[in-house]
Amino acid sequence: MAILTVPTQPIPGQKPGTSGLRKKVAVFRQQHYLENFVQSVFDTLGDLSGKTLVLGGDGRFHNRAAVHTILRMAAANGVARVLVGRGGLLSTPAVSCVIRKHEALGGIILSASHNPGGPDGDFGIKYNIGNGGPAPEGVTEAIYQRTTTITQYRVSDDPDVDIDHIGRGYMEQMQVEVIDPVEDYADMLEGLFDFDAIRKLFTGGFRMCFDAMSAISGPYAQAILEGRLGAPAGTVINAVPLEDFGGHHPDPNPVNAAQLIELMAGPDAPDFGAASDGDADRNMIVGRNFAVTPSDSLAILAANAQVAPGYRGGIAGIARSMPTSRAADRVAEALGVKLYETPTGWKYFGNLLDAGLATLCGEESYGTGSNHIREKDGVWAVLFWLNLLAVTGKSVQQIVTEHWARFGRNYYSRHDYEAIESHAAQVLMDDLRIKLTNLPGQQMNHYTVDFADDFSYTDPVDGSQSTQQGIRIVMTDGSRIVYRLSGTGTEGATLRIYLERYEADPALHNIPTQQALAPLIAIADSVASIAHNTGRSNPTVIT
Ligand code: G6P
Ligand code: ZN
Repeated sequence: MAILTVPTQPIPGQKPGTSGLRKKVAVFRQQHYLENFVQSVFDTLGDLSGKTLVLGGDGRFHNRAAVHTILRMAAANGVARVLVGRGGLLSTPAVSCVIRKHEALGGIILSASHNPGGPDGDFGIKYNIGNGGPAPEGVTEAIYQRTTTITQYRVSDDPDVDIDHIGRGYMEQMQVEVIDPVEDYADMLEGLFDFDAIRKLFTGGFRMCFDAMSAISGPYAQAILEGRLGAPAGTVINAVPLEDFGGHHPDPNPVNAAQLIELMAGPDAPDFGAASDGDADRNMIVGRNFAVTPSDSLAILAANAQVAPGYRGGIAGIARSMPTSRAADRVAEALGVKLYETPTGWKYFGNLLDAGLATLCGEESYGTGSNHIREKDGVWAVLFWLNLLAVTGKSVQQIVTEHWARFGRNYYSRHDYEAIESHAAQVLMDDLRIKLTNLPGQQMNHYTVDFADDFSYTDPVDGSQSTQQGIRIVMTDGSRIVYRLSGTGTEGATLRIYLERYEADPALHNIPTQQALAPLIAIADSVASIAHNTGRSNPTVIT
């Protein structure tokens, strides 16, 4: 069969954001849109002969069509072998695991993560490099530059290979190996956690509910929890991945995972609740009538890492994104290890993990992970918690409150103003930048501003710099307000305001979060003139 060279021209706007190129499905279905981007990836990678790539996605609408297109293009571009998940499915952490295990050149992930799916929803594509992690900025920028000059792409007209059965097929000279999406990944987790202890927990009547939100974590959670760990059938709810996630927003936070939160607050609440997002890299941890913030979860896992066999030797360091609360900083200090503060985006953890500087990483946006792969990992976090619950015999709430008693509590919340007008959002940020220099020393409510800046980061490994990564106003007592524009949205702009206050006194650890943060919230509103700039009086989502 023939390899065709198809003339094309640059399509504006193919610049990857925080996590790959994300657009509405309709945009991706435009003629040459996907092809231009994929060819730009291949052109950036250079000679592909003898190379293996991994390919899979979260099963959202357009996943299957895109997998076939990418296979035809990979074959035409001389790739030697593609490992593709059965049905074109692989969770984001599973892609990272498979790249590493099979020493592939890299992988292509089809997902828009936690964004809604379906014909009117979002689609996305992301390239991960040989360490299993998201391509660093240098690579994504090179891909983007290529999209601005592209004139042709290559595609095979061979018939589609069967991707629904495990086995090997060929397209042109390229081998297509269809793999079980779960196996390598589940084996890896079995090596990190005490599966015997967790199995005993379930045998002893411990009950949990894992909400897969009709997304790709379903098959993984079922195979691992209900399969390998013997949890009762039905432990995983919304377990079947659907192209439109059942119309839900597959983002695990208390607002979107309302079904789970309601269950956990009810009279028949199980002992433990968890949820994951569209591509299974995020996690939310819930106890009986008690949601754990992602920032606390990172700190708690770090403080208790030795309970898990994979981390028994201790941790080398902890990394968190700048807007993530500083709960983990106190743990790092107690452990005598270094804490790294990075910009938002998992890709910034890659170098720290590769260099052995950090072992655990986490973000406020419901992402937690470690050096076992180079993506955040939803099911991994859930197993870590199960391991902790099994070893201590304590409840989620007990573990968290005891942690606060020891380290103090970082009250924390994020307020999102979604889909605001892009220009208005830009004006708000620009205004804030102008105000920064005058803020230090100012009294606001009972706070005094210590410093205010626009966060910039120099990677300690390769020296690369990232600027304008979030405006922070830090008070003399360490309380903080951070403003950022989201890099993952597809409609207008989303303003995120992160609020944090530290409280050492255990007698003051039970204040409702929004109440504890009220004075900071008021300052955040007035400094940025939010109502005036956005036309909104309230956030759309509070986590
Ligand atoms: C993705 C990235 C994370 C990031 C999150 C929020 O999940 O992998 O690293 O924290 O998006 O990003 P945003 O730019 O929307 O705040
Ligand atoms: Zn995700």
